[in-house]
Amino acid sequence: MLYNSYLFFLSSYRLTNCADRALLICVPLKNLIIMRTSVLYTVVTVSAITLFAIACNNSSKETAAETPKADSASLVKRGEYLVAVSGCDDCHSPKAMGPNGPELVQELRLSGYPSTRPIQEVDKENLKKGWALFGPDLTNAVGPWGMSFAANITSDATGIGNWTEEQFFTALRKGKYKGQETGRPLLPPMPWANYKNMSDEDVRAIFYYLKTIKPVENIVPAPKAPTEL
Ligand code: HEC
Repeated sequence: MLYNSYLFFLSSYRLTNCADRALLICVPLKNLIIMRTSVLYTVVTVSAITLFAIACNNSSKETAAETPKADSASLVKRGEYLVAVSGCDDCHSPKAMGPNGPELVQELRLSGYPSTRPIQEVDKENLKKGWALFGPDLTNAVGPWGMSFAANITSDATGIGNWTEEQFFTALRKGKYKGQETGRPLLPPMPWANYKNMSDEDVRAIFYYLKTIKPVENIVPAPKAPTEL
């Protein structure tokens, strides 16, 4: 019995460690029956260990899959929060002067520089002195790069309504106009060089939130080169 256990221990040890099968061959024939029993034990043991290993593996995979993936509602909520705290409104939302300074015009929120607004004359003397200037509600700015106009980023077709997620990533990560790889570089003061450090999930959240906001039809003017000012 002791011998049998010893054999069982040895063979299972050897087999579970992928060792040679010499042990089985060297065992005297008279122990064949015991051997068979021990092989059976071994097979059962090895199978059990293998199954256990597979189960462990699977359960760790399951844990990863179970990690809560943001559903679309919470993704949109996160996007709303990120847009609110990362200053998109500062430049992208038209404002009207109120008692306490510029106030956001809700129905035009995030629609960029209004195409109906006349473009104000630029004080070139200040530019020559090295100043960069903002329009009164910050939706346009002028500097050594010329004049830029904040884009319409509402869910309208004239905004990002028809954009793919990939385009939005290209715009925020690579600073490309309309999110096209071959597009022109986005001009200042769009701070994409900061936003490119956002996590994938945050960029995605902002995109899905913007897709839910009120569409505003507005084609912003093309930027002006320094020579056109
Ligand atoms: C300091 C001003 C400023 C801030 C803040 C800002 N933007 Fe912009 N953004 C701009 C300007 C100006 C442009 C247009 C640049 C151009 O035409 O080259 C622009 C362009 C874009 C574009 C490209 C649109 C297109 O049609 O190619 C996207 C997308 C964008 N901004 C998203 C955002 C988001 C999202 C935020 C907030 C997380 C944000 N911006 C914050 C000024 C700003």
